[in-house]
Amino acid sequence: DINNVFAEMIGKEHGMTVEELEEAKDKALKAHQNILKAEAEGEMGFMELPYKQKEVVNELKETAEKLKDKFDNFVVLGIGGSALGNIAVQTAINDPHYNLFKEARNGYPRLFVSDNVDPEGIKALLDKLDPEKTLFNVISKSGSTAETMSQFLLARKFVADAVGEEKVGEHFIATTSKDSGYLIEIAEREGMKKFFIPDNVGGRFSVLTPVGLLSAAMTGVDIEELLEGAAYMDQICRKSDFWENPALVNGLIQYLAYKKGKVMSVMMPYSDRLRDVADWYRQLWAESLGKEVDRQGNTVNVGPTPIKALGATDQHSQAQLYMEGPFDKIITFLEVENFAEELEIPGAYKDLDGVGYLGGHSFAELINTEKWATELALNKRNRMNQTVKVPEVNEFTLGQLFYFFEFQTAVTGELLNINTFNQPGVELGKNYTYGIFGRDGYQDKKDEFDSSAEH
Ligand code: PA5
Repeated sequence: DINNVFAEMIGKEHGMTVEELEEAKDKALKAHQNILKAEAEGEMGFMELPYKQKEVVNELKETAEKLKDKFDNFVVLGIGGSALGNIAVQTAINDPHYNLFKEARNGYPRLFVSDNVDPEGIKALLDKLDPEKTLFNVISKSGSTAETMSQFLLARKFVADAVGEEKVGEHFIATTSKDSGYLIEIAEREGMKKFFIPDNVGGRFSVLTPVGLLSAAMTGVDIEELLEGAAYMDQICRKSDFWENPALVNGLIQYLAYKKGKVMSVMMPYSDRLRDVADWYRQLWAESLGKEVDRQGNTVNVGPTPIKALGATDQHSQAQLYMEGPFDKIITFLEVENFAEELEIPGAYKDLDGVGYLGGHSFAELINTEKWATELALNKRNRMNQTVKVPEVNEFTLGQLFYFFEFQTAVTGELLNINTFNQPGVELGKNYTYGIFGRDGYQDKKDEFDSSAEH
């Protein structure tokens, strides 16, 4: 629902007009053609995922079926695109207390995603795991990311000390690039089970590869439905009629909003289940669109800043700023039409006006009313906002959301005339770490560090 980006709803000064979109829509259509052309040249791997994974899906399901009873804990070691999708799927589909209660898990292992190198966090987790009953999934496309590989080295020792060197490989699954990096070599040496990340799918676009699908299958998520949802959305995103293609319309709105000074792009789900989709989107949007140079190599330093928020919680934290702070934001709400639970608010204290009015309504009604109220208040304050509504949160709609936002990101990247799929800034930080830690081939980075004043 894009009504609230228009001047009719939020006033002339900050709103867009349909004419503006009509005038700019050729640019979006050109972006669309470029994406389809790049796909034909094999460069848009994420667009192949809904269709080309039959065999790997079977293998993932078989692996999950075989291993789910053998292990109590499934630990993902990965970071960024090798972790955030896994968390988003888990939060959206499984019981909110999945790890806490056996009955919430339906016989599947607990899931932990260890995506940082804070020693306290790592130690606290390993201390509580039984190594004999724990399976680790090391996920790294490059096969060399320091955060992931250092955790792997520790986990390997943790397992080897308990089960012996010869059985280490049975406690690890490697998800990595088929022919590059060190993880593949390690996996082969240790006899680990392997899954592959296609070369033409970047980390932050990889949730629908084995990166996200293995932990999903290991926790009972229907991975075929995720892909079905993505395929359904793919068909919609292929439409060449601008107004029939929400990824084109929204990709253009985001671009025009940015050009109008709305340089912050907030995603605010009114649903606990979709909370981590906003976190996943934050990385997708930031790493894909935040770029120093355009395609021609000119310095442009572009990129909208993504912000994650949660309704209704952040109404009591962020909303004041969104309502009355600078006019620098476009807010995308995620709304759920039907919650799995309506949950009635009991009636009591009828004589106390300020509490009695709540009774008889449901929590589902309340959370969506809060969303509508926030939307209206934003309109009254001339703030650009829009809504992506799902009928309910399930694997099919989640697959749609992932694919929709990935496609939209590709569109906005085209409009910004940047390379959406690289991340030279992230690589630079990684390379300094390698240099400082003494990795071969990175001495120049170590020298730069030593001669810099910052430390
Ligand atoms: O999206 C990206 O490319 C990054 O966020 C990577 O996913 C992240 O840096 C981890 O990289 P790797 O999977 O190579 O360990």
